[in-house]
Amino acid sequence: MISKAVQSIQQGKCVVFPTETVYGLGANALSTSQVAQIFAFKNRPTSNPLIVHVANMDMIFTVASSLSSLEQRLFEAFSPGPLTLVLPKKENVPSIVTGNLDSVGVRIPNHPIALDFLNAVNLPICAPSANISGKPSPTTYEMAKHYMKNQDVIILDGGNLEIGIESTVIKVERDEIYLLRAGAISPQMIADFCGIMPIIKQSEAHRSPGTKFTHYKPKAKVHLYTYNTTSPFTQINNAILLCLNLPLNTQYKHIYHFTDIQEYMHHLYEIFFQADKKGISHIICELPINEGLGMGLYDRLSRAGEN
Ligand code: TXA
Ligand code: MG
Repeated sequence: MISKAVQSIQQGKCVVFPTETVYGLGANALSTSQVAQIFAFKNRPTSNPLIVHVANMDMIFTVASSLSSLEQRLFEAFSPGPLTLVLPKKENVPSIVTGNLDSVGVRIPNHPIALDFLNAVNLPICAPSANISGKPSPTTYEMAKHYMKNQDVIILDGGNLEIGIESTVIKVERDEIYLLRAGAISPQMIADFCGIMPIIKQSEAHRSPGTKFTHYKPKAKVHLYTYNTTSPFTQINNAILLCLNLPLNTQYKHIYHFTDIQEYMHHLYEIFFQADKKGISHIICELPINEGLGMGLYDRLSRAGEN
């Protein structure tokens, strides 16, 4: 399968591959026409830049013009893994990849199939999540197949993916680190490693362009509540409940009671997907505390619940 996927890229076609976070829809990042297929397929705004995936630290320089010592240390500490660093872009990277920015997001995914594929293809592969823009990202093979049902693309089967939400995106500027998108690498983990706490309050300039767009929305209406507030949603029919703390009232059709944030993140998009398949009309979700590992989950839930 890997050799078929490599052939596909060489023939100018996209490939869906698993990572530890979500499935990606990959194209040769150095080919404008191949990258254009991603935007057409996903119906993605062209101002939303893509993350480039590489197999190792050396390959970073196929798309980035420089790497400071702090950036290098961050890569060494957290890669392969769910961390994307926004770096100065090399001139040869087509502007379609970066939404015309002079920076490029780069990450080394931690999944054996992704790494085999990236090593074999020996090219930088840009890949957004393999969903239609706005929908929950695919975290299972079934979801990836569903989104790709009318497309002639190879899907590398990685089964159910481990993390379940997209990578943490950061940018280093001078001696400061900005958190552009929260994910499974928490700001505290970064601070513990290098002594610099990422700046979270996002000005327009320190925000991932992607966070401006509608995201992660199932067809069912998503309602949010925080534990200890009286849930106003007890009367809703045909609803499911996702929670970390079991509420006293349990009149829901299905209850997903997670033991921790990792488990909640891992299942979130798949539950959204399955709920739509079953015709569930309302999904009630407990919001975690918006700190540490909870930040990524809080962000995805908040945006799924926006009107
Ligand atoms: O886990 C992930 O990151 C997955 C897998 C496939 O690797 N990919 C993913 O890609 O989530 P996507 O396209 O759905 O999200 C990319 C995010 C967007 O919020 C985008 O704005 C941001 O990364 N991004 C990419 N390049 C950037 C840049 N140069 N400056 C700022 N933000 C950037
Ligand atoms: Mg996405």
